[in-house]
Amino acid sequence: MVIQNPYTIGDPLESNLVGREDILKYLKELWAIAPQPKSVILYGPHRMGKTSILRNIANCSSSDIQVVYVNLQSLAAISEGMGEIFLAISDEISDAINLPQPDIDKLLRLPQRTFQLYLQQAIQKLENKCLIIALDEFEEIENLINAKQLPANFMTVLRGFVQMSPKIAFAFAGLHTLEEMTEDYFQSFLTSVIPIRVGFLSRATTHQLLANPNPDFLLTYEPEAMDRIYDLTFGQPYLVQLLGFLLVRRYNEQTFEQGKTREPIFTVADVEAIIRQNELFQNGRYYFTGVWGQAAQDTPGQQDILRGLADYPEGCSRATIQEVTGLEESILNDALETLARHDVIIETGGNLRFAVELFRRWTLLTN
Ligand SMILES: Nc1ncnc2c1ncn2[C@@H]1O[C@H](COP(=O)(O)OP(=O)(O)OP(=O)(O)O)[C@@H](O)[C@H]1O
Ligand SMILES: [Mg+2]
Repeated sequence: MVIQNPYTIGDPLESNLVGREDILKYLKELWAIAPQPKSVILYGPHRMGKTSILRNIANCSSSDIQVVYVNLQSLAAISEGMGEIFLAISDEISDAINLPQPDIDKLLRLPQRTFQLYLQQAIQKLENKCLIIALDEFEEIENLINAKQLPANFMTVLRGFVQMSPKIAFAFAGLHTLEEMTEDYFQSFLTSVIPIRVGFLSRATTHQLLANPNPDFLLTYEPEAMDRIYDLTFGQPYLVQLLGFLLVRRYNEQTFEQGKTREPIFTVADVEAIIRQNELFQNGRYYFTGVWGQAAQDTPGQQDILRGLADYPEGCSRATIQEVTGLEESILNDALETLARHDVIIETGGNLRFAVELFRRWTLLTN
């Protein structure tokens, strides 16, 4: 019997999140707070599971919360300014609570006023429920403002809606940490928004994700194999899923295509075989190039450090990395600070190393 591959690689999870119970619980608390639900920003590096969290809360809106989800990246080329964003949000509200859409011409001509009225109608229809508007890929707002497709006061406009009704809040998600949102137009809103960091899974949660990707999964892992996967991924959820996915695929190839008999249990040797294959780095390339690309932004020297550090599987000291990169001390310190903030490197007791071992290997192979 071919094993159906239970691991999800790349697409956001619509349900069955692993290891995010604390965040989901916290969100519920924040939104149950009288007299007003709190706006939040979920932030974290690429493929850490931000969208999955938003999709999950949108899918399980409860009796006192209605969540609508909009991905700002999918609107990337807007030509009609903020009216177009409000249109996208109204579409979702309209679907979710069965409220006729606002007049499109009016919305584009008088966006702020028309949307405000629409929100008021929505709140009325929702009776005692709160409305949470989830805006994913939050960086897009900054890009659109820079491209003059949105007014510089867009965040203040959003804040106005929250101030208008005590039943409305926003849930933003994106890559930027709060320290990085220094532009004035963010500040007006963000001082009142609660930041929530989306980070690596723990060792125990990584085991859980591997061993029980769904209730019907028949294959098992030796504990050492799961530990090995944790050590290679540091609990990066996408990479954990990718390794699980490749293991199942290899199992199917061995047992069905090649007709081998083998135990239905994954060992460290299986994991080692997977990471020797080029396929892992092929399949995972968007993740790896995404992290690498982010290291080219804002603070100089980050990629130099990664290239240098990749030669040290056990890590090395600041002095060593300064010597290998030849970076000036202040540049080095800034770059290290950014890399740590983005969960790319970690420093313990004066020792610097890659957080994710597989990313170190990719860097070594590719750069
Ligand atoms: N809680 C989780 N449990 C299990 N797997 C997860 C979890 N969160 C994320 N993943 C894995 O990571 C992948 C990416 O998740 P998601 O798209 O939600 O991340 P993201 O942070 O929104 O990424 P991006 O920054 O690229 O938008 C999923 O396809 C899945 O493989
Ligand atoms: Mg996302």
